Amino acid sequence: MNKTIYDLRKLILLSLAIGSVFWQCTSSEGKDVWQLEMDAFINDLLGKMTLEEKAGQLTLYTSGWTVTGPELREDYKEEMVAGRAGNLFNAHTVSYARELQRIAVEETRLGIPLLFGLDVIHGYKTTFPIPLAESCSWDLELIENSARLSAKEAASAGINWTFNPMVDVARDPRWGRVAEGAGEDTYLTSLIGVAKVRGYQGADLADPTTILACVKHFAAYGAAQAGRDYHTVDMSDRVLRETYLPPYKAALDAGATTFMTSFNELDGIPASGNRYLMTDILRGEWGFKGFVVTDYTAINEMVAHGVVANEKEAAELAFNAGVEMDMQGGLYSKYLPDLVAEGKVERKRLDDAVRKILKMKYKLGLFQDPYRYLSEERETSTLHSDELMQAVLESARESIVLLKNERVGSKPLLPISKEVKSIALIGPLADNQKDLLGTWHVAGDASKVVTVKQGIEQLVPQAKIQYAEGVGFTGKDQKKMEKAVEVARKSEVVIMVLGENYQQSGEAASRSALGLPGHQQGLLKAIQALGKPLILLTMSGRPLTLSWEQANIPAILHCWHLGTMAGQAIAETLFGDNNPSGKLTMTFPRNVGQVPIYYNMKNTGRPFDDKNKYTSKYIDVSNEPLYVFGHGLSYAEFEYSDLTLSNSELTAGSTIEISANVRNSSQVPGEEIVQLYLCDVVGSVTRPVKELRGFRKIKLAGGEKKRVTFGLKENDLRFYTRSMEFRAEPGKFKVFVGSSSNAELKGEFVLTSDPLNE
Ligand code: NOJ
Repeated sequence: MNKTIYDLRKLILLSLAIGSVFWQCTSSEGKDVWQLEMDAFINDLLGKMTLEEKAGQLTLYTSGWTVTGPELREDYKEEMVAGRAGNLFNAHTVSYARELQRIAVEETRLGIPLLFGLDVIHGYKTTFPIPLAESCSWDLELIENSARLSAKEAASAGINWTFNPMVDVARDPRWGRVAEGAGEDTYLTSLIGVAKVRGYQGADLADPTTILACVKHFAAYGAAQAGRDYHTVDMSDRVLRETYLPPYKAALDAGATTFMTSFNELDGIPASGNRYLMTDILRGEWGFKGFVVTDYTAINEMVAHGVVANEKEAAELAFNAGVEMDMQGGLYSKYLPDLVAEGKVERKRLDDAVRKILKMKYKLGLFQDPYRYLSEERETSTLHSDELMQAVLESARESIVLLKNERVGSKPLLPISKEVKSIALIGPLADNQKDLLGTWHVAGDASKVVTVKQGIEQLVPQAKIQYAEGVGFTGKDQKKMEKAVEVARKSEVVIMVLGENYQQSGEAASRSALGLPGHQQGLLKAIQALGKPLILLTMSGRPLTLSWEQANIPAILHCWHLGTMAGQAIAETLFGDNNPSGKLTMTFPRNVGQVPIYYNMKNTGRPFDDKNKYTSKYIDVSNEPLYVFGHGLSYAEFEYSDLTLSNSELTAGSTIEISANVRNSSQVPGEEIVQLYLCDVVGSVTRPVKELRGFRKIKLAGGEKKRVTFGLKENDLRFYTRSMEFRAEPGKFKVFVGSSSNAELKGEFVLTSDPLNE
């Protein structure tokens, strides 16, 4: 073992032993003993490092994945051994990561352990529903648990850093990356981001089942023009601060340790060179103490953006703007030593940046034991554990959104009776494993996915199931289409599973048309013409335009990409063992011309009036989306009534209670997500027509009634006023309570005072 690190480790082990006894001891400066030891250890180590080794700690390279498994390029291995590559990502599985860690610890001069990153976006080997799907559960506990268990599984395979949560508010479904976030709403995205940070990082980073979270993409990546990935972002500071920044801030306040820059420019400056974002806001205003990593080669890309003439200038701009770690670009390693020597980068700032990375390694316990994430036994017992499979199933159940369920005869078409004799199961996603994992499944194991066909076969073994693919995601084969129609003709019920494959959403997967891809709608029309009871299951990583489907198909379940247990959750829902309760977190437009479309828009000076041509509307499509934000049906039926407010006035420091009755008027037990919206009637600047300010997920037995109460305080009414102060303005507010953003119960109150302005 390397001598220097060995001595350091002996020192550390000793101090840790002492520290565990005097864990709570604080010095005269108020720092605890552990903190003092960490600082001493890191200062000592920094004192031994060359400029090249320092730049190496600020460098992150990817490991490749070949058919035979993960593999590191020879040149990166050389960089590692020379101390010029201090961190890796995409290097997972214990056996592989252990060998790399061994090289770092035993073959480099100072033996500093590597950080191992990975995009654990919705699971590691066991795959949860895509984040947009899971956000439709509106279940923060469930989401935190998904992140916790994903962290546990990834950590068992050597990973100690995930590039998640992605908290980019997104209102344009053409952008493929809407799949990775929590939809269009700032408030909900913030809460979900917090839940994920808690899940990944747990209560204590020293626990080897926790991993560092990375909040991304900072900032406003979700507002790419025309929904085209990597495209320009341009917005007012007001919109930036009010709509796009709060989720990043909420995730930071929840303890997020790292941030990732975005690919886009903002107000003419690429995010990776944007001092306003990283230094003024993130560190200055918000007090972030962790480190910022770029997105993949984002420093190098500033040359193409046209704000620097060459890569050396790019490295200088990024570092001085506030980026600590260079992902994959190799520019810090190449240029930082010279930039310091030339006085373009301050030596002290370089040391501060390195200190942040070393601290993170220390907090993870890697100096104490570089192999603490690398136990084969733990890996074997954790991967695909029963606990994980059960959580994935539960999450899939809660993510499904029932878009439509029309009566056919006396009953709604769904759920299907388990007595059904024959089912035609049609479509490219009906007996498919890999696509059900969705985008960013990275290490997800497709062989473990329960297909829709398998799920149905398990649940209704006596039914005769006839499967036909019918059509693929592109192109068409007349014979296959005919076979599907034939199969449908012979069956009692038809279930079609249509939508996007896993590559049709996610990064670099923007679409200009949002219908069912390829010839799937043609097949659907041919089968609908048979007049059989027809259920449509749609799968995608984004909202789709389903206007024809809504008008012509009696029952539609939106199933997103639900992950490993998709087929079981879907079958349970089709046959009524699971009552769907998901609610959309992104608006589904009628057509692409309505995009961007979101529920919390502004009124305009000429709000829609169908009797007046000169009002804000289209001449060829309604202003209303096809499915509003918050929409989602159930097999139960819920009635809302009796909205009351505890007071007609709200004063600073007090709480106003808003209550309503929710009754399950059916005999079927179900879950309902009760939503509260707020509207500030007159502001010094225009305010949205409504904004989500609270929600509750409640269970109601058949016939049961519950009273749901929300509390609002003055600080829930704050916004950026005309003078850019974040405060509430006295005046009238409306509230709405209901089962979607079309909430029908209304009330109002007056805010009488503004404590910040008195
Ligand atoms: C590019 C993506 O934009 C980012 O989200 C991801 O974390 C990195 N690549 C690393 O894979």
